[in-house]
Amino acid sequence: MCGITAISATKEALPFLLQGLEKLEYRGYDSAGITTIENHRLFTKKAKGRLQNLKDLLKNESVTGHVGIGHTRWATHGVPSNLNSHPHTNNADTISLVHNGIIENYRELKDILILQGYHFQSETDSEVVVHLMDYYYNKTHNLQAALQKVISRIEGSYALCIVSTIDPDKVYIAKKDSPLVIGKTDNASVAASDIPAILDYTKDVYFLNDYEIAILDKGSVAFFDKDGHSISKELTTIPYDNEAAKKGGYDTFMLKEIHEQPHAIAETLRGRVEGTDRIVLPELNNMKDQFKTFNKAYFVACGTAYHACLSGANILERLTKIPTFTQAASEFRYCDPIIDEKTLCIFVSQSGETADTMAALRLAKEKGCTTIAIANVLGSSISREADHTIYTCAGPEIAVASTKAYTTQLIVLLLLAMYIAQALGYENEHYKRIIEGIASLPERINNILKDEKLFENYAQYLKDLKDAYYIGRGLDYASVLEGALKLKEVSYVHADAYIAGELKHGPIALIEPGSLVIAVATQPNIAAKTISNIQETIARGANVILFTIDGQEVGNVKETYILPKVDPILQSVLVAIPLQLIAYYAAGIKGCDVDKPRNLAKSVTVE
Ligand code: G6P
Repeated sequence: MCGITAISATKEALPFLLQGLEKLEYRGYDSAGITTIENHRLFTKKAKGRLQNLKDLLKNESVTGHVGIGHTRWATHGVPSNLNSHPHTNNADTISLVHNGIIENYRELKDILILQGYHFQSETDSEVVVHLMDYYYNKTHNLQAALQKVISRIEGSYALCIVSTIDPDKVYIAKKDSPLVIGKTDNASVAASDIPAILDYTKDVYFLNDYEIAILDKGSVAFFDKDGHSISKELTTIPYDNEAAKKGGYDTFMLKEIHEQPHAIAETLRGRVEGTDRIVLPELNNMKDQFKTFNKAYFVACGTAYHACLSGANILERLTKIPTFTQAASEFRYCDPIIDEKTLCIFVSQSGETADTMAALRLAKEKGCTTIAIANVLGSSISREADHTIYTCAGPEIAVASTKAYTTQLIVLLLLAMYIAQALGYENEHYKRIIEGIASLPERINNILKDEKLFENYAQYLKDLKDAYYIGRGLDYASVLEGALKLKEVSYVHADAYIAGELKHGPIALIEPGSLVIAVATQPNIAAKTISNIQETIARGANVILFTIDGQEVGNVKETYILPKVDPILQSVLVAIPLQLIAYYAAGIKGCDVDKPRNLAKSVTVE
């Protein structure tokens, strides 16, 4: 995810810009760049790859400007390259800009600007903003007024920092839905995407709200609303040090990433749901007529992504009537799958580099299947080799145990199923209800996160246990498989997930007084059946924690958590949150290193 730094100071800007970018490296990036203002001219350098490449470029330059902007890019529109790197400059080379976020209406704006004679150098959505700034500056002759016009025209998410030779002492800033923090010392005003980048300079910061504008000017900061009225903001003192700041004040990356899910899901949905009844996936535009030719769909992945596939396949089959199969990538190659040009193969991978998933993709291509990749890392191997790629927009996931990548995979799989249903003409009232429900997910997850203390308490049941049992049916079975995997990965408690109806065919022999059963029963058509299975475990002395929906409560369970009312198809996204938090807090109780569990790797590039 992109990182931004900006400074207006009475001393050289470059050291701050570079150290800030270094502190933002944890966000993940594929290129870096800076602009400073030198003797009333823009000095811009950018380099693909590591920040060190940019530093090497700057080694023999004398960069003395006091005002500047810096950027690390995590590609979303256009491959990683020097041209696509930020900062972007206008054609006259008088305005330079860095952007974090996604400009949703960039295509429309780009067409208009091209007609106005603007010349584009990159494939990015961000470049439209600098030309739009130029366009409105030519109309208003005032940079702040131009920025106000720009933010009234652009849609999507953005943190923008802009410098210009027209007003060479200042940095102009605006934001919506992308993070930006501003700091101040006696002789410098600074801004960055995240606190670690400025903490070595100051602990006194301002947080910019959406649609607000800030102007940095050598130790002072002025704030305005979107209409240009001056506003005052409160200074906040950051109470923690740099190491803690990288984790956003959370103790671990895993907890930070769990809490990032409302934002990550909102980003993944951005621009993909139109009105209340349409899914838009431009990545698949040229496939629309092809969907009716498929007689089956295979979902293939590893680990957590495999669990996302189990849900995705269930949903696709229900919504489109296309028969689906789900296979672990490590098995796919060796099970001689019956696949051909009438098979749609969907490969899901956070990293886009997992060796087994890549091998499975190559086999599917060899057999003539149409392949769609769902990946989080732009430009990853899977996205280069698959026929089509849809990205999750989770941002970099640092903790080994996947959380926000999983829920955003569920979202993309859901969007994909709905998109295919739409292409095949299966839209109906149910379809519309699901779309309404999808849009509400970020807020609903925010509300579930408010109950974090409850889930921390539920984890106490695992204090003296070495095993736990997770049960569910249908979509809930996929959810409990992922819940059990999370617990195993981070707390080393042995956890098994069973189809609730299968308990009596063997696993129930393991249930004894004090056993912990975590049950998920969110699907109204089968919840009552799961609840009967719960009773069978209670009768043998189990302690049960139940996640269910209103109207399905059971007596005698130790804990019941009622999930928000949404379409049952969406419940896997919601129930993932408490299951992740139970695993997280169980790991804490057991004293485990949650971010780097033993024996596990984030990206598995061996078979
Ligand atoms: C590893 C990771 C898991 C991940 C799996 C698949 O096992 O520890 O968190 O789910 O690989 O990775 P992918 O990048 O293909 O989603």
